[in-house]
Amino acid sequence: MTGERPHPTLHSNAAPTGDGRLSAPSATRNAPAIVKALVPLMPAEGVVLEIASGTGEHAVALARALPGCIWQPSDIAPERLVSIDAWRAAEGVANMRVAIALDATRPDWAFGPVAAVYLSNLLHLLPTGAGENVVSGAARSLRPGGRFFIYGPFREGGRFRSEGDARFHDSLTRSDPEIGYKDVEWVLAVAAAAGLKPLARVEMPANNLILAFERPAT
Ligand SMILES: C[S@@+](CC[C@H](N)C(=O)[O-])C[C@H]1O[C@@H](n2cnc3c(N)ncnc32)[C@H](O)[C@@H]1O
Repeated sequence: MTGERPHPTLHSNAAPTGDGRLSAPSATRNAPAIVKALVPLMPAEGVVLEIASGTGEHAVALARALPGCIWQPSDIAPERLVSIDAWRAAEGVANMRVAIALDATRPDWAFGPVAAVYLSNLLHLLPTGAGENVVSGAARSLRPGGRFFIYGPFREGGRFRSEGDARFHDSLTRSDPEIGYKDVEWVLAVAAAAGLKPLARVEMPANNLILAFERPAT
């Protein structure tokens, strides 16, 4: 279980492959389950913005599984943008755009309007206020009826979902007392404040969750 968790830094556990691509064992491992869970919930067409795409491995897998959509990857880290584009070129994914630099913790950020926003494994690495900015920016970026998907580890009812989660949270707060796991209830409240309605909750392997939201159509 603990092997699922990235190293407690924003740059996680990705390793170079030698051609610009980075590969993260966790991203390789969890991509198939994420694809299976998200395909039925994703819009059939339109632009999907991915925040914090990391290596680009989720982007390639999801763009392939959603041929009617146009996948727009992004990240804050220049070496991640290089990796994402290298994955796109190596795999020849036609419905994936060039990655863009995006700091999703800026208070005023927005992109789009897009049909969906996807975010994986970032909120627990951020202070609370930065996490609020990620969610409010995603909500601002959605077209009416658009959907926001958040994958990652969470706490719920004040409890961790496993001992490995509690250990990982402790290692995060030791490295930076302002960061750490967010409660499901916190995500629901922040999303509601941003005008989003809960759409679905999917239990994922290794005690992770997908929390899905929708911007009302009117
Ligand atoms: C743990 S990795 C997750 C990568 C990928 N989403 C996954 O699940 O495999 C966290 C990613 O967030 C990116 N990141 C960190 N701060 C960010 C910010 N303020 N805005 C956008 N991306 C950020 C990092 O560069 C890194 O690629």
